[in-house]
Amino acid sequence: MPLVCLADFQAHARKRLSKSTWDYIEGAADEGVTKDENIAAFKKIRLRPRYLRDVTKVDTRTTIQGEEVSAPVGIAPSGFHCLAWPDGEMSTARAAQEAGICYTTSTYASCTLEDIVTAAPKGLRWFQLYVQTDRLLNKQLVRRAESLGFRALVITVDVPVVGNRRQDLRNLLDLKTNLLLKDLQSPKESNSVPHLQVSPIDASFCWNDLAWLQSITQLPIILKGILTREDAELAVKHSVQGIIVSNHGGRQLDGVPASCSATTVATVSTSMIQFLPLLEAQEFTSRIQIDALTEVVAAVDGRIEVYLDGGVRTGNDVLKALALGAKCVFLGRPILWGLACKGEHGVQQVLNILKKEFHTAMTLAEVTPSHANISAGFEEPFAEGNSQQRGRTDEVDLSKMPLGSSILKFGNNREQISKSNEIGVKSSEAQSTPLSLHSLVSTNVPEPLPRSRHGV
Ligand code: FNR
Repeated sequence: MPLVCLADFQAHARKRLSKSTWDYIEGAADEGVTKDENIAAFKKIRLRPRYLRDVTKVDTRTTIQGEEVSAPVGIAPSGFHCLAWPDGEMSTARAAQEAGICYTTSTYASCTLEDIVTAAPKGLRWFQLYVQTDRLLNKQLVRRAESLGFRALVITVDVPVVGNRRQDLRNLLDLKTNLLLKDLQSPKESNSVPHLQVSPIDASFCWNDLAWLQSITQLPIILKGILTREDAELAVKHSVQGIIVSNHGGRQLDGVPASCSATTVATVSTSMIQFLPLLEAQEFTSRIQIDALTEVVAAVDGRIEVYLDGGVRTGNDVLKALALGAKCVFLGRPILWGLACKGEHGVQQVLNILKKEFHTAMTLAEVTPSHANISAGFEEPFAEGNSQQRGRTDEVDLSKMPLGSSILKFGNNREQISKSNEIGVKSSEAQSTPLSLHSLVSTNVPEPLPRSRHGV
């Protein structure tokens, strides 16, 4: 039977991999709450298509850090690809090059950076760094990546220590002794045979240390794992060039929000109580929850690019993430499923399926007619002139919205936010009614919160 969606690859990969490798790839931290929520969050978002637009030519291209990619989809860093396929990252790199998308190579790649570049010399590559305690090693790695043509440095911020992955503990998985991490030999031992030791991640690495990284590289720096507005603001203040909103696929701190969730409640007025009958008014805090992506996008306010990973499994998911402000999404586990099923060809198929689904989603939602210069304007999700429903992203007053539906609105620096979602890079024909992706998504009224101790 042909594999027609990413879920098919997941099921097939499971049959092909050993239990401990499958558990390592699929694994999540602690109870897996965040991992499950990553998937569920996308399913809760509803799309609001607007019809009778010319969609004969749909163009999925976009740019990230100034480089054109064939679609707003990339490969998130994940370690040890040789577990899934013999030549590991080399196959992944070739597939990414073929698909015209960005491949982020992990510090824990099982092939050397040189071999990866040789396998796919023309591909767009970013290098992900787990900052090591040995500064010299960091410097050597960064300089090496830069000289090999990697175009950005992704610093993963959510791993001061590795999360508590129960299955790996049960399986006694010890990647350190099972795999060669060829890139992590100490500079002092550069003439010796690469050793098996994983150099420890630097748990002391702080905001102020970013300046040191910036001093040793010309590459744009992207922080992976930012989940809050406070950290997003610090990221901008520290002059990084991008943020990947990510919870590490639910593998680190369990219980953090889904990267992309529809349960954006934002600031809620007390008249909202009518929707939340189980809560007492005095318990009602003004901010219940704003989910990671929308929170970060609002804080960044178009100053740097915001990307997302975690739970992206369909082209519709890609569209939803973009609609909520992501410039590009990245895939973690699905790439390893593709690799496990058919190596390079499997990764290619995974990417092609997702790109095709995204193209279809754009066409069906009539998001971006061929000319898709959606930065040109912003369309209100509500009827024209309904000014009472305008407001900042974080000030959506759900009580004023029609019963049974709440709509995510982005009144905050619209031009920049919609610019950040420009798809279809060059546009010759301007659309008379330019369409922002933000008008595309809606959510249901948030589910009633669980009965509180003092609830009525
Ligand atoms: C990861 N991830 C990860 N992240 C990172 O910054 N460096 C790494 O080496 C790894 N390694 C890794 C291994 C495996 C097996 C997985 C599944 C994930 C996290 C990854 O980049 C990404 O954040 C998540 O995988 C995204 O979620 P999805 O797409 O897997 O749901």
